[in-house]
Amino acid sequence: MDMLDKLQELEKEALKTVKKAKSYDELEQAESRYIGRNGILNSIMGEIGALPAEQRREVGKRANQIKKTISSLISQKAAEFSSSESSTAPAGERIDVTARLTSKPRGSIHPISQVQAEMEQIFLSMGFDIVDGPHIESEFYNFEALNIPEDHPAREHQDTFWLTCGLLLRTHTSSVQVRTYKTSTPPFAVVIPGRIFRYEAVDASHENTFNQIEGFIVDTDISVANLIAVLKRVVREIFKKDIKVRLRPGYFPFVEPGYEMDFECLLCRGKGCSVCSRTGWVEFLGCGMIHPNVLKFGNIDPEKYTGFAFGLGLDRLTMMLYKIDDIRIFQGCDLRNLRQFSSPSLL
Ligand code: FA5
Repeated sequence: MDMLDKLQELEKEALKTVKKAKSYDELEQAESRYIGRNGILNSIMGEIGALPAEQRREVGKRANQIKKTISSLISQKAAEFSSSESSTAPAGERIDVTARLTSKPRGSIHPISQVQAEMEQIFLSMGFDIVDGPHIESEFYNFEALNIPEDHPAREHQDTFWLTCGLLLRTHTSSVQVRTYKTSTPPFAVVIPGRIFRYEAVDASHENTFNQIEGFIVDTDISVANLIAVLKRVVREIFKKDIKVRLRPGYFPFVEPGYEMDFECLLCRGKGCSVCSRTGWVEFLGCGMIHPNVLKFGNIDPEKYTGFAFGLGLDRLTMMLYKIDDIRIFQGCDLRNLRQFSSPSLL
């Protein structure tokens, strides 16, 4: 049998074997047996050197043709296996890693976390440190140290989720004020972002679990002018433009004097809607000059040092920034709402 006959036989047998193959494994075996490095085709071709020069070219050409035919039949069979293979391939079957991936939904950062991160950057750029505090708090830090004794009517303003042993879920981030004063030496500038809890009815602009950022600066000669300058700058930086705000007197036992700051409701442009209770204004924060009694609880001498503090509502800020007309979506489980915020600017 000359070499061309041998090649003819090889092609016939290889094609028959490949056609009959029922799995990737069988295809792989056929490939290696017939056209692999140590396969039959190469072993036949090992004899080519013994042929006269004029026959070598013809045999070489035929061998190449046969290799191509066998190899393309193997690819064709592999493609058939891959298209008939469902995503629930039986154990042991191989997965085609070159197949196109179906696009999977990707997670995104919660809008409140995004705004919190942006606010943190703004405060850091202004020289503030970021501090954390516990959600479960003592009556002392949540109330007493803030100049709110047990029988003070101000306790009723912030309906409390009580736990056992005099503990509670903190009703504001102001609970971290005296904790921080005790461990800091003036001058210092600190912000405390965090979740807070209130036992109150929920509506379009009120949650029972929401987020605040507390902030304060303690130094010599701190005044209301410093407070207003800081708040104005923060509002301009987060909205990236000037928006209408107003400062009005507000009562908090832990500051004197005290104020509240509102911004014009950006959802209705001040005309009145369900978010701003038809007033055209949304209450954004409480603030004021830190009460001397509170500084004393924090072991800071009020004769020497003064300071301002503020506590802003992060949920309401996020609503204004993204024109969200219902605070309840933040804690809701409707992923369609959350998927709209898939461009985290700070990742
Ligand atoms: C306080 O919580 C004070 N601790 C703020 C403060 C800090 C005053 C330091 C002085 C010095 P108030 O209860 O007003 O204050 O809440 C502050 C902000 O949180 C509000 O202006 C509002 O933006 C937001 N807020 C209050 N209640 C809710 C609520 N139920 N749902 C969503 N946001 C709320």
